[in-house]
Amino acid sequence: MKAHDTVRHLMRQGKGILAADESTKTITERFEARGISPTEAMRRAYRELLMTTPGMEEYLSGVILYDETIRDTIAHGTPYPEYLFSRGVFPGIKVDLGMAHDPQFGGLVTLGLDGLRKRLVEYKALGARFTKWRAVAAVGTQPGAPHVRENASRLAVYAEEALAEGMVPIVEPEVLMEGAHSAEDAERTITETVATVIDALHARDIDLSHVILKTAMAVSGSNASVRATASEVADRTVRALTSAVPEEMGGIVFLSGGQSPEEATANLNAIARLEPLPWDITFSFARALQEPVLDRWAGNPENVDEAQSIFLERLSLARAADAAGYSASQEEGSLAP
Ligand code: G3H
Repeated sequence: MKAHDTVRHLMRQGKGILAADESTKTITERFEARGISPTEAMRRAYRELLMTTPGMEEYLSGVILYDETIRDTIAHGTPYPEYLFSRGVFPGIKVDLGMAHDPQFGGLVTLGLDGLRKRLVEYKALGARFTKWRAVAAVGTQPGAPHVRENASRLAVYAEEALAEGMVPIVEPEVLMEGAHSAEDAERTITETVATVIDALHARDIDLSHVILKTAMAVSGSNASVRATASEVADRTVRALTSAVPEEMGGIVFLSGGQSPEEATANLNAIARLEPLPWDITFSFARALQEPVLDRWAGNPENVDEAQSIFLERLSLARAADAAGYSASQEEGSLAP
């Protein structure tokens, strides 16, 4: 399948992409916060709960998996990629190896270029259709800071290699929500960080129509005393992206970044109200889809059905938001605790 067709599938109207690619360290923290035992068996049970949810294919075009899951099978023995594919949902894979502070670049730099091509070949053989690489920048990072340029350059190398193996790259230069900054400051850092990534992609002559950008929204920092309204977040997010992202970009998907499910969904809705935009947009949340599901499941097999209903409810609200048809009053019917 050509990259163009994969992009079209992933960005299909009415569908989004589930991020279920938490590293073992991250999912352990989320389990422990809820008293769930962080064992491999529990990770398997949880990911099976998500991906076997009846009807999830109505809302999802793709799922980003973690290395542990793409090699795994669901209970009746079908490998995850084959199972997802049979439900019309494309399997994707996180291919970066996390990040580390690098004194040479004065900040957090994403790891994983060593041996990347070999891992890509293996993931493709396992059935992956698309891939993801995440880098981060804090709001207020100086434009052109060495670690921002290095992360952009690595995102471009990754994108080129993923495309060479026939898999669509999702490039994710996440501007972090942590901090007390304003939405205006977030807008500025998103504009500059994304523009640096676009420059790096251009420098490698990468066809942007074969690439999907995953970005944060321009929200107030998690510790800000004043929170920007959804309409301000939408205006700032769209202004940042319009100034930095050429219209040929294959699509733009939003991460939730620590916003509550309600906040992320309302902000997506406000962004969608500004359509038509130059690119197709949709959601690619992890926490804003999963947190209430994890809360309800709590590691108890007896809660699987209710947790799956909550997952479907969040998916349906996210889809409504992507079509600018969400309102907070719809949350009242939610099964969330
Ligand atoms: O890399 C981050 C995930 O793809 C999105 O996660 O929605 O919890 O920010 P999030």
